[in-house]
Amino acid sequence: MAQTNDKHFYITTPIYYVNALPHIGHFYSTLIADCFARWNRLKDKTTFFLTGTDEHGQKVKEAAINNNMTPQEYVDIISEKFRDCFVRANFKFDHFIRTTHDYHVATVTRLWDTLTSSGYIYLDKYRGWYNVSDETFVNESDITDIDGSKFCKATNKALVWHEEDNYIFKLSLFQKSILKHMDQNPNWIIPAFRQKEVYAFVKDGLHDISVSRQMSTCDWGIPVPKKNNWCNNHGSRRVDSTTSNDSRVSTSNNFCVSNSDDQHKRHIVYVWLDALTNYLSGSNYKNSGYICNNNIWPANVHVIGKDILKFHAVYWPAFLIGANLPLPEKIIAHGWWTKDGEKISKSMGNVFDIDKEVEKYGNDAIKFYLLRDTSYSLDGDYREERMVDRYNGELSNTLGNLVSRATAPALLNNYVVPTPGNFTEDDCSIINDINTLFNDVDKIMTTDYDIQLSINRIWQTLFKMNLYINNTKPWESRKNNDNERLGTIMYTLLGSIRVLGYILEPFLPETAVRIQSIFPNKSMKTLVIDQTVLVPGQKLNIDKNLVLFRKL
Ligand code: MSP
Repeated sequence: MAQTNDKHFYITTPIYYVNALPHIGHFYSTLIADCFARWNRLKDKTTFFLTGTDEHGQKVKEAAINNNMTPQEYVDIISEKFRDCFVRANFKFDHFIRTTHDYHVATVTRLWDTLTSSGYIYLDKYRGWYNVSDETFVNESDITDIDGSKFCKATNKALVWHEEDNYIFKLSLFQKSILKHMDQNPNWIIPAFRQKEVYAFVKDGLHDISVSRQMSTCDWGIPVPKKNNWCNNHGSRRVDSTTSNDSRVSTSNNFCVSNSDDQHKRHIVYVWLDALTNYLSGSNYKNSGYICNNNIWPANVHVIGKDILKFHAVYWPAFLIGANLPLPEKIIAHGWWTKDGEKISKSMGNVFDIDKEVEKYGNDAIKFYLLRDTSYSLDGDYREERMVDRYNGELSNTLGNLVSRATAPALLNNYVVPTPGNFTEDDCSIINDINTLFNDVDKIMTTDYDIQLSINRIWQTLFKMNLYINNTKPWESRKNNDNERLGTIMYTLLGSIRVLGYILEPFLPETAVRIQSIFPNKSMKTLVIDQTVLVPGQKLNIDKNLVLFRKL
Protein backbone atom coordinates (compact mmCIF):
# COMPACT_ATOMS: atom_id res chain seq x y z
CA MET A 1 0.00 0.00 0.00
CA ALA A 2 2.67 2.48 0.98
CA GLN A 3 3.93 2.82 -2.57
CA THR A 4 6.26 5.75 -2.99
CA ASN A 5 6.77 8.05 -5.87
CA ASP A 6 10.48 8.82 -5.75
CA LYS A 7 11.06 9.75 -9.36
CA HIS A 8 8.51 12.52 -9.55
CA PHE A 9 7.16 15.04 -7.20
CA TYR A 10 3.42 15.36 -7.70
CA ILE A 11 1.54 17.90 -5.58
CA THR A 12 -2.07 19.03 -5.70
CA THR A 13 -4.34 21.71 -4.29
CA PRO A 14 -8.05 21.26 -3.67
CA ILE A 15 -10.02 22.15 -6.76
CA TYR A 16 -12.04 25.23 -6.01
CA TYR A 17 -15.80 25.61 -6.14
CA VAL A 18 -16.78 28.13 -8.75
CA ASN A 19 -19.78 29.43 -6.84
CA ALA A 20 -17.57 32.19 -5.42
CA LEU A 21 -14.60 34.25 -6.51
CA PRO A 22 -11.04 33.40 -5.39
CA HIS A 23 -10.24 34.52 -1.87
CA ILE A 24 -7.48 34.18 0.71
CA GLY A 25 -8.32 30.52 1.50
CA HIS A 26 -7.86 29.47 -2.13
CA PHE A 27 -4.74 31.61 -2.39
CA TYR A 28 -3.25 30.02 0.73
CA SER A 29 -3.77 26.36 -0.30
CA THR A 30 -2.29 27.14 -3.71
CA LEU A 31 0.61 29.07 -2.20
CA ILE A 32 1.64 26.12 -0.02
CA ALA A 33 1.55 23.77 -2.98
CA ASP A 34 3.46 26.26 -5.14
CA CYS A 35 6.16 26.56 -2.51
CA PHE A 36 6.71 22.78 -2.32
CA ALA A 37 6.60 22.45 -6.11
CA ARG A 38 9.26 25.14 -6.48
CA TRP A 39 11.39 23.54 -3.78
CA ASN A 40 11.35 20.25 -5.66
CA ARG A 41 12.14 21.93 -8.96
CA LEU A 42 15.09 23.51 -7.22
CA LYS A 43 16.23 19.95 -6.50
CA ASP A 44 15.79 19.13 -10.20
CA LYS A 45 12.98 16.69 -9.49
CA THR A 46 10.44 16.23 -12.25
CA THR A 47 7.61 18.10 -10.66
CA PHE A 48 3.93 18.19 -11.44
CA PHE A 49 1.78 20.76 -9.70
CA LEU A 50 -1.95 20.47 -10.25
CA THR A 51 -4.68 22.94 -9.37
CA GLY A 52 -8.05 23.76 -10.87
CA THR A 53 -11.78 24.19 -10.39
CA ASP A 54 -14.61 22.01 -9.10
CA GLU A 55 -17.49 22.86 -11.40
CA HIS A 56 -20.36 20.47 -10.80
CA GLY A 57 -23.07 20.21 -8.16
CA GLN A 58 -26.17 21.82 -6.86
CA LYS A 59 -24.66 24.98 -5.43
CA VAL A 60 -22.77 25.78 -8.62
CA LYS A 61 -25.97 25.33 -10.59
CA GLU A 62 -27.80 27.60 -8.15
CA ALA A 63 -25.08 30.24 -8.51
CA ALA A 64 -25.47 30.07 -12.32
CA ILE A 65 -29.22 30.51 -12.07
CA ASN A 66 -28.79 33.46 -9.71
CA ASN A 67 -26.52 35.04 -12.31
CA ASN A 68 -28.96 34.36 -15.18
CA MET A 69 -26.56 32.06 -16.96
CA THR A 70 -26.41 28.45 -18.00
CA PRO A 71 -24.14 26.42 -15.71
CA GLN A 72 -21.58 26.02 -18.51
CA GLU A 73 -21.46 29.76 -19.27
CA TYR A 74 -21.13 30.48 -15.60
CA VAL A 75 -18.37 27.96 -14.82
CA ASP A 76 -16.37 29.08 -17.88
CA ILE A 77 -16.30 32.63 -16.53
CA ILE A 78 -15.52 31.86 -12.90
CA SER A 79 -12.96 29.17 -13.64
CA GLU A 80 -11.09 31.69 -15.80
CA LYS A 81 -11.08 34.13 -12.88
CA PHE A 82 -9.40 31.52 -10.69
CA ARG A 83 -6.82 30.77 -13.34
CA ASP A 84 -6.15 34.49 -13.89
CA CYS A 85 -5.81 35.07 -10.16
CA PHE A 86 -3.25 32.25 -9.89
CA VAL A 87 -1.34 33.47 -12.95
CA ARG A 88 -1.20 37.01 -11.52
CA ALA A 89 -0.03 35.52 -8.22
CA ASN A 90 2.82 33.93 -10.15
CA PHE A 91 1.93 30.40 -9.05
CA LYS A 92 3.75 28.03 -11.35
CA PHE A 93 1.20 25.25 -11.79
CA ASP A 94 1.72 22.64 -14.51
CA HIS A 95 -1.90 22.00 -15.26
CA PHE A 96 -5.19 23.65 -14.43
CA ILE A 97 -7.90 21.02 -14.33
CA ARG A 98 -11.59 21.66 -14.73
CA THR A 99 -14.06 18.95 -13.82
CA THR A 100 -16.05 19.79 -16.96
CA HIS A 101 -13.11 18.66 -19.14
CA ASP A 102 -13.74 15.53 -21.22
CA TYR A 103 -10.69 13.64 -20.00
CA HIS A 104 -11.82 14.15 -16.42
CA VAL A 105 -15.32 12.91 -17.22
CA ALA A 106 -13.72 9.85 -18.84
CA THR A 107 -11.64 9.13 -15.72
CA VAL A 108 -14.60 9.49 -13.38
CA THR A 109 -16.58 7.13 -15.61
CA ARG A 110 -13.73 4.69 -15.55
CA LEU A 111 -13.32 4.83 -11.78
CA TRP A 112 -17.07 4.41 -11.35
CA ASP A 113 -16.99 1.32 -13.57
CA THR A 114 -14.07 -0.13 -11.65
CA LEU A 115 -15.77 0.38 -8.29
CA THR A 116 -19.09 -0.95 -9.45
CA SER A 117 -17.68 -4.00 -11.20
CA SER A 118 -15.92 -4.86 -7.94
CA GLY A 119 -19.26 -4.72 -6.15
CA TYR A 120 -18.54 -1.65 -4.07
CA ILE A 121 -21.45 0.39 -5.40
CA TYR A 122 -25.11 -0.60 -5.26
CA LEU A 123 -28.44 1.10 -5.85
CA ASP A 124 -30.68 1.62 -2.85
CA LYS A 125 -32.97 4.01 -1.08
CA TYR A 126 -31.04 6.81 0.64
CA ARG A 127 -32.63 9.15 3.12
CA GLY A 128 -31.02 11.87 5.11
CA TRP A 129 -30.34 15.52 5.78
CA TYR A 130 -28.20 17.12 3.10
CA ASN A 131 -25.91 20.11 3.49
CA VAL A 132 -25.96 21.76 0.06
CA SER A 133 -23.24 24.22 0.95
CA ASP A 134 -20.74 21.47 1.77
CA GLU A 135 -22.32 18.97 -0.67
CA THR A 136 -22.59 16.24 1.94
CA PHE A 137 -25.13 14.21 3.90
CA VAL A 138 -24.93 14.82 7.64
CA ASN A 139 -25.18 12.17 10.38
CA GLU A 140 -28.04 12.37 12.89
CA SER A 141 -25.59 13.05 15.72
CA ASP A 142 -24.26 16.14 13.92
CA ILE A 143 -27.68 17.77 13.46
CA THR A 144 -29.36 20.38 15.61
CA ASP A 145 -33.00 21.48 15.51
CA ILE A 146 -33.73 25.21 15.67
CA ASP A 147 -37.39 26.25 15.51
CA GLY A 148 -38.29 23.18 13.53
CA SER A 149 -35.47 23.59 10.98
CA LYS A 150 -32.41 21.38 10.85
CA PHE A 151 -28.87 22.71 10.90
CA CYS A 152 -25.41 21.18 10.83
CA LYS A 153 -23.92 21.50 14.35
CA ALA A 154 -20.37 22.07 13.17
CA THR A 155 -21.02 24.62 10.43
CA ASN A 156 -24.48 26.03 11.27
CA LYS A 157 -25.45 25.42 7.66
CA ALA A 158 -29.13 24.77 6.91
CA LEU A 159 -30.00 21.20 5.94
CA VAL A 160 -32.56 19.89 3.50
CA TRP A 161 -34.24 16.48 3.62
CA HIS A 162 -33.47 14.11 0.77
CA GLU A 163 -35.06 10.79 0.15
CA GLU A 164 -34.19 9.15 -3.14
CA ASP A 165 -32.92 6.03 -4.84
CA ASN A 166 -29.20 6.57 -4.94
CA TYR A 167 -26.09 4.63 -5.69
CA ILE A 168 -24.39 3.79 -2.45
CA PHE A 169 -20.68 3.19 -1.92
CA LYS A 170 -19.77 0.56 0.67
CA LEU A 171 -17.49 2.83 2.66
CA SER A 172 -18.01 0.69 5.76
CA LEU A 173 -16.01 -2.09 4.13
CA PHE A 174 -12.86 0.04 4.15
CA GLN A 175 -12.60 0.82 7.83
CA LYS A 176 -9.91 -1.76 8.55
CA SER A 177 -7.78 -0.91 5.52
CA ILE A 178 -7.80 2.79 6.32
CA LEU A 179 -6.90 2.21 9.96
CA LYS A 180 -4.14 -0.15 8.89
CA HIS A 181 -2.78 2.46 6.51
CA MET A 182 -2.62 5.01 9.32
CA ASP A 183 -1.00 2.47 11.66
CA GLN A 184 1.66 1.81 9.06
CA ASN A 185 2.08 5.48 8.15
CA PRO A 186 1.93 7.45 11.39
CA ASN A 187 3.00 10.67 9.63
CA TRP A 188 0.58 10.35 6.76
CA ILE A 189 -1.38 13.46 7.73
CA ILE A 190 0.29 16.69 8.78
CA PRO A 191 -0.16 18.06 11.42
CA ALA A 192 -0.06 14.88 13.51
CA PHE A 193 -3.05 15.77 15.67
CA ARG A 194 -5.22 15.75 12.54
CA GLN A 195 -4.25 12.13 11.88
CA LYS A 196 -5.40 11.31 15.42
CA GLU A 197 -8.74 12.99 14.69
CA VAL A 198 -9.20 10.99 11.50
CA TYR A 199 -8.15 7.79 13.23
CA ALA A 200 -10.76 8.28 15.96
CA PHE A 201 -13.42 9.11 13.37
CA VAL A 202 -12.73 5.96 11.35
CA LYS A 203 -12.43 3.80 14.45
CA ASP A 204 -15.88 4.95 15.48
CA GLY A 205 -17.30 3.14 12.45
CA LEU A 206 -17.87 4.16 8.85
CA HIS A 207 -21.27 4.41 7.25
CA ASP A 208 -21.90 3.69 3.60
CA ILE A 209 -22.30 6.87 1.60
CA SER A 210 -24.45 7.98 -1.26
CA VAL A 211 -22.38 8.53 -4.39
CA SER A 212 -25.02 9.73 -6.80
CA ARG A 213 -27.79 12.30 -6.92
CA GLN A 214 -30.99 11.94 -8.85
CA MET A 215 -31.12 14.25 -11.80
CA SER A 216 -34.48 15.47 -10.62
CA THR A 217 -32.69 17.10 -7.62
CA CYS A 218 -29.52 18.08 -9.43
CA ASP A 219 -28.64 17.55 -13.06
CA TRP A 220 -25.38 19.50 -13.24
CA GLY A 221 -22.81 16.76 -13.04
CA ILE A 222 -21.33 13.69 -14.68
CA PRO A 223 -24.01 11.14 -15.54
CA VAL A 224 -23.65 7.76 -13.89
CA PRO A 225 -22.27 5.59 -16.71
CA LYS A 226 -24.71 3.48 -18.61
CA LYS A 227 -22.64 0.31 -18.58
CA ASN A 228 -24.37 -2.45 -16.72
CA ASN A 229 -21.79 -5.15 -16.89
CA TRP A 230 -21.08 -4.70 -13.22
CA CYS A 231 -24.68 -5.24 -12.23
CA ASN A 232 -24.31 -9.00 -11.86
CA ASN A 233 -21.47 -8.62 -9.41
CA HIS A 234 -23.55 -6.51 -7.16
CA GLY A 235 -23.91 -7.97 -3.71
CA SER A 236 -20.77 -10.08 -4.03
CA ARG A 237 -19.36 -8.12 -1.09
CA ARG A 238 -21.91 -7.49 1.56
CA VAL A 239 -21.66 -4.55 3.90
CA ASP A 240 -20.50 -5.72 7.28
CA SER A 241 -23.66 -5.60 9.37
CA THR A 242 -21.75 -4.55 12.48
CA THR A 243 -20.53 -1.37 10.87
CA SER A 244 -23.54 -0.61 8.73
CA ASN A 245 -25.79 0.79 11.44
CA ASP A 246 -26.66 3.96 9.60
CA SER A 247 -30.40 4.47 9.53
CA ARG A 248 -30.04 6.07 6.10
CA VAL A 249 -28.89 2.84 4.51
CA SER A 250 -31.51 0.27 3.75
CA THR A 251 -30.77 -3.30 4.67
CA SER A 252 -31.83 -4.60 1.28
CA ASN A 253 -28.36 -5.17 -0.03
CA ASN A 254 -29.56 -7.64 -2.61
CA PHE A 255 -31.20 -4.95 -4.67
CA CYS A 256 -29.99 -5.32 -8.22
CA VAL A 257 -29.57 -2.43 -10.61
CA SER A 258 -32.05 -2.32 -13.41
CA ASN A 259 -30.68 -2.52 -16.90
CA SER A 260 -33.02 0.06 -18.27
CA ASP A 261 -31.50 3.22 -19.72
CA ASP A 262 -33.96 5.24 -17.72
CA GLN A 263 -32.50 4.11 -14.45
CA HIS A 264 -29.06 5.36 -15.44
CA LYS A 265 -30.15 8.57 -17.05
CA ARG A 266 -31.60 9.62 -13.77
CA HIS A 267 -28.38 9.94 -11.76
CA ILE A 268 -25.28 12.05 -11.68
CA VAL A 269 -22.07 11.12 -9.85
CA TYR A 270 -21.79 12.64 -6.35
CA VAL A 271 -19.69 15.81 -6.55
CA TRP A 272 -17.03 14.59 -4.11
CA LEU A 273 -16.40 11.35 -6.03
CA ASP A 274 -16.27 13.48 -9.16
CA ALA A 275 -13.99 16.12 -7.58
CA LEU A 276 -11.52 13.83 -5.82
CA THR A 277 -10.94 11.94 -9.07
CA ASN A 278 -9.34 15.10 -10.49
CA TYR A 279 -6.12 14.02 -8.81
CA LEU A 280 -6.02 11.00 -11.12
CA SER A 281 -7.33 12.62 -14.28
CA GLY A 282 -5.33 15.81 -13.85
CA SER A 283 -2.03 14.01 -13.63
CA ASN A 284 -2.87 11.95 -16.66
CA TYR A 285 -4.72 14.44 -18.78
CA LYS A 286 -2.72 13.69 -21.88
CA ASN A 287 -3.84 10.07 -21.81
CA SER A 288 -7.53 10.90 -21.77
CA GLY A 289 -8.68 9.14 -18.73
CA TYR A 290 -6.99 5.77 -18.57
CA ILE A 291 -6.13 5.79 -14.93
CA CYS A 292 -4.19 2.55 -15.11
CA ASN A 293 -1.59 4.11 -17.45
CA ASN A 294 -0.88 6.78 -14.95
CA ASN A 295 2.79 6.87 -14.13
CA ILE A 296 2.78 9.85 -11.79
CA TRP A 297 0.22 8.56 -9.32
CA PRO A 298 0.38 8.36 -6.31
CA ALA A 299 0.54 12.04 -5.50
CA ASN A 300 3.30 12.90 -3.07
CA VAL A 301 1.25 15.56 -1.37
CA HIS A 302 -2.37 16.70 -1.28
CA VAL A 303 -2.57 20.19 0.21
CA ILE A 304 -6.04 20.85 1.65
CA GLY A 305 -7.83 22.90 4.31
CA LYS A 306 -8.82 21.22 7.55
CA ASP A 307 -12.53 21.34 6.64
CA ILE A 308 -12.16 18.86 3.79
CA LEU A 309 -9.98 16.33 5.58
CA LYS A 310 -12.68 13.66 5.91
CA PHE A 311 -13.14 13.60 2.15
CA HIS A 312 -9.41 13.26 1.51
CA ALA A 313 -8.39 10.97 4.35
CA VAL A 314 -11.45 8.68 4.45
CA TYR A 315 -13.56 8.76 1.26
CA TRP A 316 -10.70 9.20 -1.18
CA PRO A 317 -8.52 6.39 0.25
CA ALA A 318 -11.56 4.09 0.22
CA PHE A 319 -12.24 4.86 -3.47
CA LEU A 320 -8.57 4.28 -4.27
CA ILE A 321 -8.31 1.02 -2.34
CA GLY A 322 -11.54 -0.09 -4.02
CA ALA A 323 -9.94 0.59 -7.41
CA ASN A 324 -6.71 -1.10 -6.38
CA LEU A 325 -4.71 2.10 -6.59
CA PRO A 326 -2.07 3.31 -4.13
CA LEU A 327 -2.85 6.08 -1.66
CA PRO A 328 -1.38 9.60 -1.66
CA GLU A 329 1.83 9.72 0.36
CA LYS A 330 1.07 12.77 2.42
CA ILE A 331 -1.86 15.01 3.24
CA ILE A 332 -1.18 18.50 4.57
CA ALA A 333 -4.30 19.91 6.23
CA HIS A 334 -3.85 23.59 7.00
CA GLY A 335 -5.91 25.82 9.24
CA TRP A 336 -8.22 28.63 8.22
CA TRP A 337 -7.54 32.32 7.85
CA THR A 338 -9.73 34.86 9.54
CA LYS A 339 -9.55 38.59 8.91
CA ASP A 340 -9.13 40.83 11.94
CA GLY A 341 -10.47 38.01 14.10
CA GLU A 342 -13.59 37.41 11.97
CA LYS A 343 -14.38 34.32 9.93
CA ILE A 344 -14.20 35.15 6.25
CA SER A 345 -17.41 34.38 4.44
CA LYS A 346 -19.72 35.80 1.84
CA SER A 347 -22.56 36.02 4.32
CA MET A 348 -20.41 38.02 6.76
CA GLY A 349 -19.67 40.44 3.92
CA ASN A 350 -15.95 40.34 4.62
CA VAL A 351 -14.77 38.25 1.67
CA PHE A 352 -11.17 39.18 1.59
CA ASP A 353 -10.03 40.39 -1.81
CA ILE A 354 -6.52 39.04 -2.02
CA ASP A 355 -5.94 40.79 -5.36
CA LYS A 356 -6.35 44.21 -3.73
CA GLU A 357 -3.84 43.28 -1.06
CA VAL A 358 -1.38 42.04 -3.68
CA GLU A 359 -1.81 45.23 -5.68
CA LYS A 360 -0.94 47.22 -2.61
CA TYR A 361 2.04 45.24 -1.30
CA GLY A 362 3.18 42.92 -4.11
CA ASN A 363 2.94 39.13 -4.46
CA ASP A 364 6.02 38.29 -2.44
CA ALA A 365 5.11 40.43 0.55
CA ILE A 366 1.69 38.78 0.90
CA LYS A 367 3.08 35.29 0.28
CA PHE A 368 5.79 35.82 2.87
CA TYR A 369 3.32 36.99 5.46
CA LEU A 370 0.94 34.07 4.92
CA LEU A 371 3.71 31.47 5.00
CA ARG A 372 5.72 33.03 7.80
CA ASP A 373 3.03 34.12 10.19
CA THR A 374 1.27 30.85 10.95
CA SER A 375 1.74 27.11 11.00
CA TYR A 376 -0.61 24.54 9.50
CA SER A 377 -1.77 23.53 12.96
CA LEU A 378 -3.24 26.91 13.72
CA ASP A 379 -5.77 29.20 12.16
CA GLY A 380 -4.18 32.42 10.94
CA ASP A 381 -5.60 35.86 11.48
CA TYR A 382 -4.80 38.31 8.70
CA ARG A 383 -4.05 41.72 10.18
CA GLU A 384 -2.71 44.38 7.90
CA GLU A 385 -0.60 46.07 10.58
CA ARG A 386 1.02 42.72 11.39
CA MET A 387 1.72 42.15 7.72
CA VAL A 388 3.34 45.59 7.54
CA ASP A 389 5.45 44.86 10.64
CA ARG A 390 6.80 41.67 9.13
CA TYR A 391 7.37 43.43 5.84
CA ASN A 392 9.37 46.22 7.44
CA GLY A 393 11.24 44.03 9.89
CA GLU A 394 12.01 40.84 8.02
CA LEU A 395 11.80 41.76 4.36
CA SER A 396 12.92 45.37 4.23
CA ASN A 397 15.32 45.61 7.20
CA THR A 398 16.74 42.12 7.13
CA LEU A 399 16.71 40.78 3.57
CA GLY A 400 16.49 44.03 1.60
CA ASN A 401 19.11 45.75 3.69
CA LEU A 402 21.46 42.79 3.45
CA VAL A 403 21.27 42.68 -0.33
CA SER A 404 21.81 46.41 -0.70
CA ARG A 405 24.80 46.35 1.63
CA ALA A 406 26.31 43.32 -0.14
CA THR A 407 26.00 45.09 -3.50
CA ALA A 408 26.77 48.64 -2.39
CA PRO A 409 28.53 50.33 -5.33
CA ALA A 410 30.80 52.18 -2.88
CA LEU A 411 32.20 48.87 -1.66
CA LEU A 412 32.75 47.27 -5.06
CA ASN A 413 35.37 48.48 -7.48
CA ASN A 414 33.75 49.05 -10.89
CA TYR A 415 30.91 46.67 -10.04
CA VAL A 416 33.11 43.63 -10.43
CA VAL A 417 33.40 40.52 -8.26
CA PRO A 418 36.44 41.15 -6.04
CA THR A 419 39.33 38.75 -5.51
CA PRO A 420 39.20 37.32 -2.01
CA GLY A 421 42.29 37.10 0.21
CA ASN A 422 42.59 34.77 3.20
CA PHE A 423 39.29 33.87 4.79
CA THR A 424 39.13 34.58 8.53
CA GLU A 425 37.11 32.63 11.08
CA ASP A 426 34.24 35.12 10.69
CA ASP A 427 34.17 34.66 6.92
CA CYS A 428 34.35 30.85 7.21
CA SER A 429 31.51 30.81 9.68
CA ILE A 430 29.26 32.57 7.12
CA ILE A 431 30.51 30.40 4.26
CA ASN A 432 29.83 27.24 6.28
CA ASP A 433 26.41 28.46 7.23
CA ILE A 434 25.49 29.18 3.63
CA ASN A 435 26.97 25.89 2.42
CA THR A 436 24.80 23.89 4.82
CA LEU A 437 21.69 26.02 4.42
CA PHE A 438 20.21 24.13 1.48
CA ASN A 439 20.53 20.74 3.19
CA ASP A 440 19.14 22.09 6.44
CA VAL A 441 16.11 23.58 4.74
CA ASP A 442 15.68 20.52 2.54
CA LYS A 443 15.42 18.32 5.60
CA ILE A 444 12.71 20.55 7.04
CA MET A 445 10.86 20.74 3.72
CA THR A 446 10.98 17.01 2.95
CA THR A 447 10.83 15.41 6.40
CA ASP A 448 8.66 17.83 8.33
CA TYR A 449 6.98 19.52 5.36
CA ASP A 450 7.19 22.67 7.43
CA ILE A 451 7.42 25.90 5.46
CA GLN A 452 7.33 28.20 8.48
CA LEU A 453 10.30 26.43 10.09
CA SER A 454 12.19 26.52 6.80
CA ILE A 455 11.73 30.28 6.61
CA ASN A 456 12.91 30.59 10.21
CA ARG A 457 16.05 28.65 9.32
CA ILE A 458 16.79 30.92 6.36
CA TRP A 459 16.19 34.06 8.40
CA GLN A 460 18.64 32.82 11.04
CA THR A 461 21.28 32.97 8.34
CA LEU A 462 20.13 36.40 7.19
CA PHE A 463 20.34 37.78 10.72
CA LYS A 464 23.78 36.27 11.06
CA MET A 465 24.93 37.83 7.80
CA ASN A 466 23.72 41.29 8.85
CA LEU A 467 25.68 40.89 12.08
CA TYR A 468 28.70 39.80 10.05
CA ILE A 469 28.57 43.06 8.10
CA ASN A 470 28.20 45.08 11.31
CA ASN A 471 31.20 43.29 12.82
CA THR A 472 33.53 43.17 9.83
CA LYS A 473 32.75 46.79 8.80
CA PRO A 474 33.76 46.61 5.12
CA TRP A 475 33.40 50.43 4.85
CA GLU A 476 36.39 50.75 7.22
CA SER A 477 38.52 48.47 5.03
CA ARG A 478 37.55 50.75 2.15
CA LYS A 479 38.50 53.84 4.13
CA ASN A 480 41.82 52.24 5.06
CA ASN A 481 42.46 51.12 1.50
CA ASP A 482 42.67 47.54 2.72
CA ASN A 483 41.54 46.12 -0.62
CA GLU A 484 42.41 42.55 0.23
CA ARG A 485 40.21 42.46 3.37
CA LEU A 486 37.48 44.42 1.60
CA GLY A 487 37.61 41.92 -1.30
CA THR A 488 37.32 38.95 1.07
CA ILE A 489 34.34 40.35 2.90
CA MET A 490 32.56 41.39 -0.28
CA TYR A 491 33.32 38.08 -1.99
CA THR A 492 31.86 36.23 1.03
CA LEU A 493 28.74 38.39 0.90
CA LEU A 494 28.26 38.14 -2.86
CA GLY A 495 28.79 34.39 -2.83
CA SER A 496 26.23 34.09 -0.06
CA ILE A 497 23.52 36.20 -1.63
CA ARG A 498 24.04 34.38 -4.92
CA VAL A 499 23.14 31.12 -3.15
CA LEU A 500 20.28 32.81 -1.31
CA GLY A 501 18.88 33.92 -4.67
CA TYR A 502 18.12 30.24 -5.41
CA ILE A 503 17.17 29.03 -1.93
CA LEU A 504 14.68 31.87 -1.50
CA GLU A 505 12.94 31.17 -4.79
CA PRO A 506 10.18 28.85 -3.44
CA PHE A 507 9.28 31.39 -0.74
CA LEU A 508 9.82 34.72 -2.52
CA PRO A 509 9.81 33.88 -6.24
CA GLU A 510 9.95 37.42 -7.62
CA THR A 511 12.54 38.71 -5.18
CA ALA A 512 14.70 35.67 -5.79
CA VAL A 513 14.76 36.34 -9.53
CA ARG A 514 15.84 39.92 -8.85
CA ILE A 515 18.70 38.67 -6.68
CA GLN A 516 19.72 36.10 -9.29
CA SER A 517 19.81 38.84 -11.94
CA ILE A 518 22.62 40.62 -10.12
CA PHE A 519 24.95 37.85 -11.25
CA PRO A 520 26.14 37.35 -14.82
CA ASN A 521 25.56 33.62 -15.26
CA LYS A 522 22.34 33.28 -13.37
CA SER A 523 21.29 30.12 -15.20
CA MET A 524 24.10 28.32 -13.39
CA LYS A 525 22.28 27.43 -10.21
CA THR A 526 24.59 26.79 -7.27
CA LEU A 527 23.38 25.91 -3.80
CA VAL A 528 26.82 26.37 -2.21
CA ILE A 529 29.43 29.09 -2.72
CA ASP A 530 31.32 28.05 -5.82
CA GLN A 531 34.40 29.98 -6.96
CA THR A 532 34.19 28.44 -10.42
CA VAL A 533 30.81 30.09 -10.92
CA LEU A 534 31.31 33.33 -9.04
CA VAL A 535 34.62 34.27 -10.61
CA PRO A 536 36.66 37.32 -9.49
CA GLY A 537 36.64 39.98 -12.18
CA GLN A 538 33.13 39.16 -13.44
CA LYS A 539 30.97 42.21 -14.02
CA LEU A 540 27.87 42.39 -11.81
CA ASN A 541 24.51 43.79 -12.99
CA ILE A 542 24.06 46.22 -10.18
CA ASP A 543 21.20 48.63 -10.25
CA LYS A 544 22.30 51.57 -8.12
CA ASN A 545 18.69 52.15 -7.13
CA LEU A 546 17.97 48.55 -6.24
CA VAL A 547 15.51 48.44 -3.35
CA LEU A 548 13.99 45.01 -2.87
CA PHE A 549 11.45 46.10 -0.28
CA ARG A 550 10.87 49.82 0.13
CA LYS A 551 10.04 50.53 3.75
CA LEU A 552 6.34 51.15 4.41
N1 MSP B 1 -14.33 21.89 -4.10
C1 MSP B 1 -13.95 21.49 -2.79
C2 MSP B 1 -12.62 20.78 -2.81
C3 MSP B 1 -12.56 19.57 -3.69
S1 MSP B 1 -10.96 18.88 -3.71
C4 MSP B 1 -11.13 17.44 -4.48
C5 MSP B 1 -13.85 22.71 -1.88
N2 MSP B 1 -13.71 23.89 -2.48
S2 MSP B 1 -13.65 25.31 -1.72
O1 MSP B 1 -13.47 26.27 -2.78
O2 MSP B 1 -14.79 25.48 -0.89
O3 MSP B 1 -12.44 25.30 -0.75
C6 MSP B 1 -11.18 25.00 -1.21
C7 MSP B 1 -10.13 25.14 -0.17
O4 MSP B 1 -10.07 26.46 0.34
C8 MSP B 1 -10.33 24.21 1.02
O5 MSP B 1 -9.12 23.56 1.28
C9 MSP B 1 -10.65 25.15 2.14
O6 MSP B 1 -10.16 24.70 3.35
C10 MSP B 1 -9.90 26.38 1.72
N3 MSP B 1 -10.45 27.54 2.39
C11 MSP B 1 -11.64 28.15 2.16
N4 MSP B 1 -11.73 29.20 3.01
C12 MSP B 1 -10.63 29.28 3.80
C13 MSP B 1 -10.09 30.22 4.68
N5 MSP B 1 -10.76 31.27 5.10
N6 MSP B 1 -8.81 30.04 5.10
C14 MSP B 1 -8.02 29.02 4.64
N7 MSP B 1 -8.50 28.14 3.79
C15 MSP B 1 -9.88 28.06 3.58
O7 MSP B 1 -13.89 22.54 -0.68
